[in-house]
Amino acid sequence: MSIHTPRKKARIRLDDDVSSAKTRPVNSLQKQREQLPIARGREALIREIQENDTTILLGETGSGKTTQVPQYILESGIAGKGMIAVTQPRRVAATSLAARVAEEKNVSVGGLVGYSVRFDEASSSDTRIKYVSDGMLVRELLSDQLLSKYSVIVVDEAHERTLRTDFLIANLKTIQTARNKVGDVSRKGKGPASALNPLKLIIMSATLDAEKFSKFYNNARILYVKGRQHPVQIFHTSVSQTDYVDAALRTFFQIHTDRPPGDVLIFLPGQEDIESLDKSIKMYARRLPEERMTVLTCPMYAALPPAQQSRIFSSAPTNARKCILATNIAETSITIPGIKYVIDTGKCKEKRYLSKDTGGGFDTLLTRDITKSSAMQRAGRAGREGPGFCFRLYTEDAFNSMALSAEPEIRRCSLTQSVLQLKCLGQDFEAVDFMDPPEIGSVISALKTLWLLGALDNSKTLTTLGRQMASFPVEPYFARIILASKTHGCTSEVIDIVSLLSSSSALFLDISDQRDTISEVRGKFRHASGDHMTMLNALRSYQEVAASDSKGARKEWCRQHFVNERTFVEATKIRDQLRQTCQRVGIDWHASTADNEEPVLRCFVTGLVQQSAFLQPDGTYKQTMGHSVIKIHPGSTLCDKKLPAIIYDELVYTSQIYARGVSSVPKSFFSNVTPVAREA
Ligand code: CDP
Ligand code: MG
Repeated sequence: MSIHTPRKKARIRLDDDVSSAKTRPVNSLQKQREQLPIARGREALIREIQENDTTILLGETGSGKTTQVPQYILESGIAGKGMIAVTQPRRVAATSLAARVAEEKNVSVGGLVGYSVRFDEASSSDTRIKYVSDGMLVRELLSDQLLSKYSVIVVDEAHERTLRTDFLIANLKTIQTARNKVGDVSRKGKGPASALNPLKLIIMSATLDAEKFSKFYNNARILYVKGRQHPVQIFHTSVSQTDYVDAALRTFFQIHTDRPPGDVLIFLPGQEDIESLDKSIKMYARRLPEERMTVLTCPMYAALPPAQQSRIFSSAPTNARKCILATNIAETSITIPGIKYVIDTGKCKEKRYLSKDTGGGFDTLLTRDITKSSAMQRAGRAGREGPGFCFRLYTEDAFNSMALSAEPEIRRCSLTQSVLQLKCLGQDFEAVDFMDPPEIGSVISALKTLWLLGALDNSKTLTTLGRQMASFPVEPYFARIILASKTHGCTSEVIDIVSLLSSSSALFLDISDQRDTISEVRGKFRHASGDHMTMLNALRSYQEVAASDSKGARKEWCRQHFVNERTFVEATKIRDQLRQTCQRVGIDWHASTADNEEPVLRCFVTGLVQQSAFLQPDGTYKQTMGHSVIKIHPGSTLCDKKLPAIIYDELVYTSQIYARGVSSVPKSFFSNVTPVAREA
């Protein structure tokens, strides 16, 4: 199956005849490499990349794009002495793919093959292939505007159209033009000898929407690698399901009891659903008769620690059925071997910007229906190694009325961070040539937020504060809080709290039917001002336990207090990075006010000025910079309290709008939070 330019209007066909591509048993990683569909097009692909500055590569999931293309580039010498970067929208994909490619190359991660994601990096001077999150490459751009250490940049999963990938696609075009202008005398004034190393770009996508990428890159060549796809039989439910987790549970056991061996992949929207279904499956599996196949569950979501990720790739023991519970990460970015059955709940989590009607200024994750394109990809996962089955937990009508594909993030997410980053690069968001331009309203809203945070002055010019904010690897409002701590002398406390808030999982477990028990055991951490200081108290208690007790005792302490130990562990890494950034921008991170809440909350008000609400005479809270009426989340220490003014970390949309991560602050704290006052 060679690489060729796609037929007009090529479509993903789940019923392609692939009898010739039957998987043979393999006994080594090298054999596996050679058998991947992309291997047959290796020479043609290398030739194309050599001859063209930009190449668009399309290929069905699992054909070997992400793991093989960087190796081909390295092996063929195309990269010269430079490095090869491979971008991924998800950090878990970056780390797990680096591990796989290192294994294929028989080296350890961080040597020849490495990765770099927010708060975690494994690379060295030997690293030639680096899997990076798209956000990390944007960060590198801020310190090296031409990304000169890379000679090849592979933008992977471009079809996902994340804001950061779109940001890169736009900037890489300019960088490539600048770097590939051979002999530009004006650039450094030293003539042709100073010409920069040229940059090759490869844009890879798993769906057939390549025309747009090609047009954007001056009609770059589109190559197409055909994957192996066996027929997949698709079933829909006859009526719509109200509880998709329960429906997934029932469907799983139907498969497990009625159908032949083969692993199951269940698509769920997020971590909470995955954890709850995992628990139920384990519970029911224990009740099965002894002679039945056992069940081995493997969760897969963004916040899963690396040690547990590798389990999903190893085969299940004989007489066991593996059941993978994954978010849409398993749709295209990670191919799991052995899947015969897919259960598709039809749901995903999507980042969405809250418009000013709902008083946003930041993104929130909403559970929503997937698109047709996702549904097709999900079904396709069942047919990688042989004929498979996909059980959709929604009706055929529901499928037919799904949107074709998702709207690019640039059209639906907060642009605040990107506008700030572009300002640091000396560019205006409105002037950049994006594949899809943002709505002007979102740009204005981002500019307003940055002005409120003091990152821009009245003439939309970047301030010193703004430049410092951009150097922190956290959201601009968190960076603002940290910078404010310099004035208030409480950097140590502020960094501790911001690290906990920046972790991928929440510190406090919130189990709705156990809220009373939880509230009782957590009583000792509770701080009258609310959730931010309560978090700090919990951290202090944990630090005491960690200093004197065994690992087991620490775990037990976390279990008893319904706190997530993983968050503490991750937060420590984040804290260390934030301390380093503080050092770079001249802030003493040791500065502490002995956990006194007043200065800490003053800093939080500075950053969360848009995320605040005042009490109304009728007992409800109204946003200070939005129109919505909100309630304090039942999981908050301040739930049911009537307080003059609150700040919050996020809003949760259910039947009502709830504020989560809430602290009570005196109204007077808001009075001097104006950009002008802060600049002084
Ligand atoms: O990028 P694309 O979807 O085209 O494929 P890939 O990610 O390069 O995966 C190629 C093959 O490597 C698939 O058969 C995967 O199952 C396998 N793989 C694996 O076994 N373990 C990993 N950690 C990653 C990939
Ligand atoms: Mg891939």
